[in-house]
Amino acid sequence: MQISGMNFVITGAGAGIGAGTAQVAARYGARVMVSDTNDVNGRAVVQSIRDAGGVAHYQHCDVTDEAQVQALMQAAGDQLGGIDVLHNNAGIHESMLGDGLTLEAMSRSTFDKVMAVNVLGPWLCAKYALPWLRDSSQASIINAGSTSSIAGYPNCVAYGSSKGAVMQMTKMLAVDLAADGIRVNCYCPGSIHTKMVDDFLAAAPDPAAMLNTMTLTHLIPRMGKPEDVAELVCFLASPAASFINGAVWLIDGGSLAWRGTLDILGMGEST
Ligand SMILES: NC(=O)c1ccc[n+]([C@@H]2O[C@H](COP(=O)([O-])OP(=O)(O)OC[C@H]3O[C@@H](n4cnc5c(N)ncnc54)[C@H](O)[C@@H]3O)[C@@H](O)[C@H]2O)c1
Repeated sequence: MQISGMNFVITGAGAGIGAGTAQVAARYGARVMVSDTNDVNGRAVVQSIRDAGGVAHYQHCDVTDEAQVQALMQAAGDQLGGIDVLHNNAGIHESMLGDGLTLEAMSRSTFDKVMAVNVLGPWLCAKYALPWLRDSSQASIINAGSTSSIAGYPNCVAYGSSKGAVMQMTKMLAVDLAADGIRVNCYCPGSIHTKMVDDFLAAAPDPAAMLNTMTLTHLIPRMGKPEDVAELVCFLASPAASFINGAVWLIDGGSLAWRGTLDILGMGEST
C-alpha cells in the first residue's frame, strides 16, 4: 500500500470506520495518532495496534473544540514527528442525539451539533494540521462524506446537509491547498456496519424496512465493513493516488450506480 512510515491523524478513531482505518493503516506500516471523545475506546484501539506490533498514540479530541484540535495536531507533530495524512473521520447523525428526526420535531441544537461535528470539525482540523501538512512531501486530507452528500434519504436533513458541505469543502480546500502540494479528497460510503448505522436503524419507525431500504440498493448484497473503507483511505493517502485530488470517491456497493432494489434482480433479501 506504500504508506509505510507515513504519519496519520484520525479523528473519531475509537470506533467504527475510524478505528478500522487506524488498524489497517498501522498494519501497512503507518504511524497513527488515534483521537476520539471516548477515551476508553480510543486507548483500546491504540492497544490493539501496539499488540499487533504497530505504532500508535492516543490524544483526546472533540473536533468541535478549537483548543483540543490545536492540541491534537501539536501532539501528532511532537509524537509522530509530523503529519502526512489528516483523516477527518469523526461524524455524528441526528439519530444519535435523541431528538425526533422530522423537520417539526428536531431541535435547533441538534441541527447545530450535527453541523458542528461534521462540518466545523473537519475545517478546524484542516486549519490546525496545515503547518505540518505543508512540511510533508506526501500530504493529504481525506474527508468522510457519505452517499447522502449526493442523494436524498429519509430522516437525514441535518446529516445530509452536513455531508453535502463536506463534499464541497473537499473541493474548495483542494483548490486552496494545491500550491502547498496538499491533496484533499473525500469518499462517500454507502451503509457500513457500525454503531452509527445501528443507532439510525433503532430510531427508524420500521427498522427492518429501513435496513432493506439501505442495503437492497447495494449491488453487492451486504452492508459494508469498516475495513472496506479503511482500504480506500489508505489507497487515497498513498503515492499510488498522487494524481487524485479534489475527488469524490463512492464506496457504496454500487448503490448510486442505479435506481432500483435487489428484488428487481431476483436477489431477494440482503445479508
Ligand atoms: N457507517 C456508515 O454507514 C457511514 C456511511 C457514510 C459515512 N459515514 C461517516 O463515517 C464516519 C464514521 O462513521 P462511523 O459509522 O464509524 O461512526 P461511529 O459512530 O461508529 O464512530 C464515530 C466515532 O466518532 C467519535 N465522535 C463523535 N463525536 C465526536 C467529536 N465531536 N469529536 C471527535 N470524535 C467524535 C465517536 O466517539 C466514535 O468513536 C462519520 O463521519 C460518518 O458520517 C458512515
